[in-house]
Amino acid sequence: MSEKNLASEITPREAYFDRRTVIRGGILAASAAATAVAYRKFNGVDLVDTNGKALKGLVKGVVKADEMTTPKRSITNYNNFYEFTTNKDGVAAASKGFKTDGWKIEVGGLVNKPKTFDLDDFRAIAPPEERVYRHRCVEAWSMVVPWAGFSVKKLLDRVDPQGSAKYVAFETLMDPKRFPNQSNSAVLDWPYVEGLRIDEAMHPLAIFATGLYGEELPPQDGAPVKLVVPWKYGFKGIKSIVKITLVDKQPPTTWNKRAPREYGFYGNVNTRHDHPRWSQATEQRIGEHGRRATLMFNGYADQVASLYTGMNLDEYF
Ligand code: MTE
Repeated sequence: MSEKNLASEITPREAYFDRRTVIRGGILAASAAATAVAYRKFNGVDLVDTNGKALKGLVKGVVKADEMTTPKRSITNYNNFYEFTTNKDGVAAASKGFKTDGWKIEVGGLVNKPKTFDLDDFRAIAPPEERVYRHRCVEAWSMVVPWAGFSVKKLLDRVDPQGSAKYVAFETLMDPKRFPNQSNSAVLDWPYVEGLRIDEAMHPLAIFATGLYGEELPPQDGAPVKLVVPWKYGFKGIKSIVKITLVDKQPPTTWNKRAPREYGFYGNVNTRHDHPRWSQATEQRIGEHGRRATLMFNGYADQVASLYTGMNLDEYF
């Protein structure tokens, strides 16, 4: 199936649900049907998480990509989560049974109201909103993912950043008993760390995802809390966050430390700056035939380009 056919057959979600019909045609029909079921579940009363409890809160906002949502089975079986394994197809099995009981998220640094949240407190910051975003890995594969979560800004407002806070640093749990690859420092420098400029973190599109396809975020996608910044490459989306620190200097980030010529601090989806070992002009959308053009800022340029006014995008990557 060509991309032309795909584009012409994609129906806006609202129209799709009004008609309640199944679009005919190969892969497209299968994924459209899967999407329909998931959304009815997500918007309906039988919204159930992986522990069998109802997910709290209502679905409020929708930021949608006008493309087919990637089937849940792909999103949850093709993952990068090096703490478990570097094999994308193996993360689901390796992370099975990962427990988030007693999880704490410590928020501090240059803030007036530092606070350590347990998961209930964290989730109570704001009701989950559905955010259907493009997800573009620096390795040039992509998906469209229906995350659930709330804007990072809502958390930052809670802790009241000081004027000197210029960046936000994020850290993944360090626990080699639960993350086997953390015993091996050759894989990566642990724990996984990431960062954003504070104005990037405050942008309404930047969210903490706690859910996926209307259910609690599964371990392989970064349970219980993953950062999602849809205009940046996937490596910025740090998983299983335990610490958030407001700082005045650009914080170190895992992939930039590992290979600074290949992975910048910004990590914006940037068609003007190829990876030294491959082009960033096109991408493989998981489940599609053929490659599609990569969009500047992953298609969110209208919303976020102003964050980078005056910066040379060939140079900053
Ligand atoms: N976070 C941690 N802690 N460890 C990781 O290995 N991989 C990153 C990012 N966050 C990673 C991480 C990369 S390279 C990508 S593309 C995304 O998570 C993958 O997210 P997904 O599995 O939900 O698609």
